[in-house]
Amino acid sequence: MKKHTLWITGAGGLIGSHLAEMAPSVAPDLAPMALTRQNLDLTNHDAVARRFALDSPEMVIHCAAISDSRQCENHPELAQRVNVEATAFLAELFASRRMVFFSTDLVFDGIRGNYAEGDAPHPLGVYARTKVEAETAVLAHPQHLVIRTSLNCGTSPKGNRGFNETLATAWKQNKVTTLFVDEFRCPIPASITALATWELVLEEAQGIFHVAGSERLSRFAIGQLVANRHPELNPRIEPGSIQDYEGPPRAADCSLNCDEAQSRLSFLLPGLTEWVNTSPVAPF
Ligand SMILES: NC(=O)c1ccc[n+]([C@@H]2O[C@H](COP(=O)([O-])OP(=O)(O)OC[C@H]3O[C@@H](n4cnc5c(N)ncnc54)[C@H](OP(=O)(O)O)[C@@H]3O)[C@@H](O)[C@H]2O)c1
Repeated sequence: MKKHTLWITGAGGLIGSHLAEMAPSVAPDLAPMALTRQNLDLTNHDAVARRFALDSPEMVIHCAAISDSRQCENHPELAQRVNVEATAFLAELFASRRMVFFSTDLVFDGIRGNYAEGDAPHPLGVYARTKVEAETAVLAHPQHLVIRTSLNCGTSPKGNRGFNETLATAWKQNKVTTLFVDEFRCPIPASITALATWELVLEEAQGIFHVAGSERLSRFAIGQLVANRHPELNPRIEPGSIQDYEGPPRAADCSLNCDEAQSRLSFLLPGLTEWVNTSPVAPF
């Protein structure tokens, strides 16, 4: 029997690469096509439509994005083109098929924390605003799925996308990293995000799901966990406060309530501390 073709965009990035790597073992009945920006520039809508006609994919798991908040602040037009317009184009192209879109905990303003799927987004920055706009375009199609995740760690193809990789790079350059003690997220390994995504895809989940780690940690605590794994890098982190930050507004507590996704998954979403201490493979 011919396998259904599935696109994975952003396959050259952190989460997309884990999804593609895992596909043969978790979704052997699908034929995934791992698309990088070099294969297909998603801002070129004619090229995307041509490729769609050629491949006839049943589904797209859309990971491609300008995912760096600073890059979005500095290049808002690019963020709009990639994060919103390319996503909206795909959502329409797959109108009679299925789409999975990755969004972020930063759609919330971080005033309250423990956000559930039904809570109203209130984005503070360019990146978050593009994600909220893209979510709306995707959710215009009720069969599509939006997964909001938090800080992801792990090994990425270019070695620069996981928060562990960013910290390690700074330490290798002998930089001291200041991390906020009063900014909270629910960090998760990209391999776990990918596994949860595949399970939700295979059970044809629709609408919004939060997929993040089960432990709410400050950025400083996250840095300590990574530092403890890398004494050889002579890690240097110092505590800071979001109160002293002078850049664009930051969301203080974007912890996510993942009960909805958890009730659908075959495994427990781990907290980062637990995962670092029990992972059978080197976590970072
Ligand atoms: N990682 C996290 O902590 C996190 C947290 C919350 C939400 N998310 C969301 O989850 C999704 C996946 O995140 P990620 O960490 O895997 O992102 P990532 O590592 O930054 O990967 C994104 C990929 O998108 C590609 N891309 C950018 N512009 C493109 C274009 N015009 N056409 C085709 N591909 C393009 C990039 O290619 P190049 O490398 O060639 O530029 C990159 O490989 C994103 O939507 C992100 O916003 C991630």
